[in-house]
Parts: sequence; structure tokens; C-alpha cells
Amino acid sequence: MEMLDFFLVATSTIGFIRVCKALIKFLKWVWVMFLRPPKDLKEYGSWAMITGSTDGIGKAMALEFASKGLNLVLVGRNPLKLEATSKEIRDHGHRVEVKCVVMDMEKVGGVEMVKRIEEAIEGLDIGLLVNGAGLAYPYSRFFHEVDLQLMDAIVRVNVEGPTWITKAVLPTMIKKKKGAIINIGSGSTVVLPSYPLVALYAASKGYLQMFSRCISLEYKNQGIDIQCQVPLFVSTKMTKMKSSLFVPTPETYGKSCTSCIGYEKLVVPYFFHSLQAFVIKLIPETFMDSYMLRHFLYFRGRGLSRDSRIKALAASNSEAKITNEDGAN
Ligand SMILES: NC(=O)c1ccc[n+]([C@@H]2O[C@H](COP(=O)([O-])OP(=O)(O)OC[C@H]3O[C@@H](n4cnc5c(N)ncnc54)[C@H](OP(=O)(O)O)[C@@H]3O)[C@@H](O)[C@H]2O)c1
Repeated sequence: MEMLDFFLVATSTIGFIRVCKALIKFLKWVWVMFLRPPKDLKEYGSWAMITGSTDGIGKAMALEFASKGLNLVLVGRNPLKLEATSKEIRDHGHRVEVKCVVMDMEKVGGVEMVKRIEEAIEGLDIGLLVNGAGLAYPYSRFFHEVDLQLMDAIVRVNVEGPTWITKAVLPTMIKKKKGAIINIGSGSTVVLPSYPLVALYAASKGYLQMFSRCISLEYKNQGIDIQCQVPLFVSTKMTKMKSSLFVPTPETYGKSCTSCIGYEKLVVPYFFHSLQAFVIKLIPETFMDSYMLRHFLYFRGRGLSRDSRIKALAASNSEAKITNEDGAN
């Protein structure tokens, strides 16, 4: 009997502790998503640097920062798109300074990239850095099918770029003992157990997640908040998806991103993404693994047939051109 009593008390205590833990986690989530006030980003410094600022999430964050009165250093590879982003910021009536740095992260890297960024931020009170530039496969494929050029580009833009740029910006933040660095990770590594047929992209984001976590500990005591933000699907040119409740526009997503800067080391900023993440994590990993594989095999098939249609069209166009030229002669 005593044994039975002990067993009952022990199991109900464990049950109670688990319920309390779940309740605390839920209340914390409500606080983070709906109630917690955003930090005053100007306290970090009067300038923010953003890579990937010419489109999608990066551009939306640039507009959000400008609306809060932060001056911007926009990094991008296309001078026309940089100019268009600056113009959009001015057209919104934000009275902030904008400096553009033209840099193709596929072509510039390492010491050269550090030198260019150091030059660009010299004398500026840089408080924020967003490593937002990113590149994915046009469509899913087996790892051996990823051509060398695409592979090189993904490693340079997703892995090397944020590493070198962080290296270039950190000393300024260390000097003033203030700053925030935001690395844009991906749900492919944080929420899902695997991302087959998009392996290199997911692995590059896994690198960024671990890099962020480690340096966030290294620099916490120096007043620098380093965070990896985790988007699931956002309606941008990368995903080519229509916006919906679970696929926000970059503008909606950018607001969520901005409001959680300076808090957790790893965060899913958007409410409906965090719901999705919660549900996905309840599903057994082996089921998710095989579902993801089937899902991406389907998209590989679609991508391949679109590619072969385009090739066939190009071939028939060039054949027609040759026939026309022959006719003209
Ligand atoms: N959208 C999503 O659902 C999703 C999900 C998970 C993670 N993410 C991550 O979120 C970040 C932003 O993605 P997004 O959806 O906003 O993508 P996007 O709309 O395609 O924008 C990507 C940005 O990166 C820039 N970029 C690409 N290659 C570059 C290079 N070689 N040099 C310099 N800049 C370069 C692009 O410049 P151009 O304007 O010149 O192309 C653009 O400004 C990425 O890191 C991505 O991996 C996105």
C-alpha cells in the first residue's frame, strides 16, 4: 500500500511539474508575441546596416528601421535596386540618411569584403546589423545535381557573407559596448527535422544558427545582442508564394522581425509561423522526414519539366531564326 501511495504521489508530482512548465512556456509565448514592448532600436546607435536590403525581408526591415528614424547603410549587388530602395524610403517620407554599398557577395569575399564594409561604416554610429542576404535553389534537387556555380554562390552568400560582414562590424560595436546583430536563419533547420533535396541551403542556414548562438554568448557581456531570426514561408521572390495567413508579406513579416530585436538568441518572430512550428514539432520526425522527401521530389519533377520545356522552346526559337536567316539569304 505504501509503495502504491508513493507511486501515486511521485507520478502526480511529475505530472504537476510538467503542466506548470507547459503553462509557463505558453504564458511566455503570449508575452513575447503580444505584450512585450519592442526595444528602442535607436539606443543601439543611429545607423543600421542591412544586407539583402533590395528585396523581400531585408527591404521590409530597412523600411521599418527608417520609420523609426534610423539612418541606413544598404548593401546590395544591384545599383539600380539600391537606388530604388533609397527612393522608396524617401517617398515614404522618412527623413533619414541612406548610404548604399554596391557589393556582389558572390564575387567579393574575405578580406576584400571586410575592407569595403569597414570603409563604408567608418565614422558611423552603427548600432544594428542585419545579415539578410540569402540565396536558395531555384527548385529542389539531389545534392549531386547542384551545379558548381550555384553551390559556390550559396556558400558565399549564405555562409561566408554574414561571417565576414559580422567580423567587419563587430569592432565598432565592441568599442561602444552596444549593438545588435540579426542573422536571418530558416525554419528549414530550426523547425523541420530535415530538408532533403535542398540540403546545401538548409545546411548553410544551420551554420548561421550555430554561428549566431556561439557569438551571442561571446559578446553578451559586451552589450551586444546577437540573434538568429527564423522565418518559415514569407511571400518574396525567393519563394514565389502568394501571401496568406501563414505566408506573410515581407512588410508584415518585417514588423514582427523588428519588434523582437535584442531579445532571444533564437526566435520565430511571426505569430502564425510560431503556431506552425509548434504543430510541426508534435509530428514524429520519421513521418516528417518521409513527407519532406516526397514533397521535394514532387517539386524537383516540376522544376525539371519546366526546365526542359524552356530548353525545347529556346531550341525551336533558334531553329526558326536560322530558317528565317536562310530564307533572307
Ligand atoms: N522568404 C522565405 O520564405 C524565407 C524563409 C526562410 C528563410 N529566408 C531567408 O530570409 C532572407 C531573405 O530572403 P527573402 O525571402 O527576402 O529573399 P529575396 O526576396 O530573394 O531577397 C534576397 C536578398 O538577398 C540579396 N542577394 C542575393 N544574392 C546576393 C548577392 N550575391 N550579393 C548581394 N546580395 C544578394 C538579394 O539581392 P537582389 O535584390 O539583387 O536579388 C535580395 O536583396 C534570406 O537569407 C533567406 O534565406 C527566407
